[in-house]
Amino acid sequence: MNSTHLWYKNAVFYQVYVRAFYDRNGDGHGDLIGLTQKLGYLKDLGIDCLWLMPIYPSPLLDDGYDIADFYNIHPDYGTLQDFKQLISSAHERGIRIITDLVLNHTSDQHNWFLEARKGKDNPYHDYYVWRDDDQDYSEARIIFLDIEESNWAWDDNAHQYYWHRFYASQPDLNYDNSSVRQEMLKVAKFWLDLGVDGFRADAVPYLFERDGTNCENLPETHAYLKELRQFIDRNYPGRILLCEANQWPEEVREYFGEGDEFHMGFHFPLMPRIFMALCKEEISPIVWVLEKTPPIPENTQWTTFLRNHDELTLEMVTEEERQWMWQHYAPLPRMRLNLGIRRRLAPLLDNHRGKIELAFSLLFSLPGSPIIYYGDEIGMGDDIWLEDRNGVRTPMQWDNSPAAGFSPADPERLYAPIISNSEFNPQKVNVTNQTNDPGSLLSSIKKMITLRKSFQSFGWGEFEWAFDTKQTQSKPIAAFYRSYLDEKLLIIQNLSSQALTAEIPLSSSSISLNEILGKSSNALINNHTLSIDLQPFDYHWFQVKSF
Ligand code: BGC
Repeated sequence: MNSTHLWYKNAVFYQVYVRAFYDRNGDGHGDLIGLTQKLGYLKDLGIDCLWLMPIYPSPLLDDGYDIADFYNIHPDYGTLQDFKQLISSAHERGIRIITDLVLNHTSDQHNWFLEARKGKDNPYHDYYVWRDDDQDYSEARIIFLDIEESNWAWDDNAHQYYWHRFYASQPDLNYDNSSVRQEMLKVAKFWLDLGVDGFRADAVPYLFERDGTNCENLPETHAYLKELRQFIDRNYPGRILLCEANQWPEEVREYFGEGDEFHMGFHFPLMPRIFMALCKEEISPIVWVLEKTPPIPENTQWTTFLRNHDELTLEMVTEEERQWMWQHYAPLPRMRLNLGIRRRLAPLLDNHRGKIELAFSLLFSLPGSPIIYYGDEIGMGDDIWLEDRNGVRTPMQWDNSPAAGFSPADPERLYAPIISNSEFNPQKVNVTNQTNDPGSLLSSIKKMITLRKSFQSFGWGEFEWAFDTKQTQSKPIAAFYRSYLDEKLLIIQNLSSQALTAEIPLSSSSISLNEILGKSSNALINNHTLSIDLQPFDYHWFQVKSF
């Protein structure tokens, strides 16, 4: 295995909603040329790879996840030429780009579906899943349950029901049809030929349906995804597939195969447990989920995240945990959506600087490659009064001007309002101020990223708790080792709002500790124990050397 092909093991990712990032042409929508102009910012932040949310022609009933044409760019975003320019400018700066590959469904405005609706004799009819009644696959859950009542929708033209796992405007493709399977390989080829470095493969558990199952994670689905992987390995080595499967770790584990399916997979169950740990001020939720996380093949990697463009999903928690999370993080009904919470990181953490930094410290030091959701690095706010998930997709705040430096257009003409509340408006939260302030959240995050990238242990290393996590005194302390070859790091984080002294057992007293973030500490080693005073929400990253 060529080790440069394993770049994703130790990469820092950044999720970009192009519409929200930077509007170059002044039409109120972010665009590809705008994003290209902001690559310097992303480089400076230390980003290795961008994930672009869908940029394809779409009626936008699911913000572009309803694709009407797989082979073009939505006119709001620009042209294929702009896309090529973005890729080459990013590559010149050493930044990779992956895009969303939506395999499971199309928009109902896609030409295949418009044809399919014409009836059973149309060659495209079988591109989708049709039935004369709505009884099949009754064990499949409904995902958008605030809106949809069934996974079947009636079509007046075809006089049949069609299958959809998401909105009714997103009919599922029929993967039992070999033409569909070939078409989607062609789509992948098109974008790989344009130079993308891989795909975030959307909603992969649902490709196939089988009666008597919940229609998720079926063997047929894995077989097709392996075929996609082989196609990429054969023709585009070094490009990656990132799996979006909102499932328990043992199920996501299957998507890594024997290192021959996905390169990366989102760790969905870890994310809410970081929030639980922060709120309960104890490490047990993280301990629990890491115990449940099976080892993965050497050439694969978890993708970890705090927030993304969707609601903070609470699918991978128990009913009791979900109620607890809603109670603590979504006290207003409006904050809840489907099985989740439509809020951004900073408001979720009470805009408390210490807690936000601590959340990032956990994200950057736990196993996996981290992904940052645009705007979270400056602590952007949200607007829960916008519909669906739009409240966490508002314009990026570049400066303190009325349109936040996002667009030359009048603020009233923007695709969404700029966050205006007194805590998170652009006067309070913007890139320019934070870039110029060495004490800002942005500066702290930049520093963590730089350090993360200069030590191999984060991406490649082993993980080990630094003490018996069942002991009560260790409850609020997240202390663990990350180690790779002869490099060893000790990460110590205080989840508590109280100052405390941590005592960590050591296997030897003949070690020295160097705080790599450059923070002062009073770590004292004595008699096989490390004792360290920690401020509320404090975190330290130490390099451990034996002598
Ligand atoms: C994406 C959502 C989208 C859904 C349907 C997902 O999992 O993250 O934003 O609505 O797939 O495509």
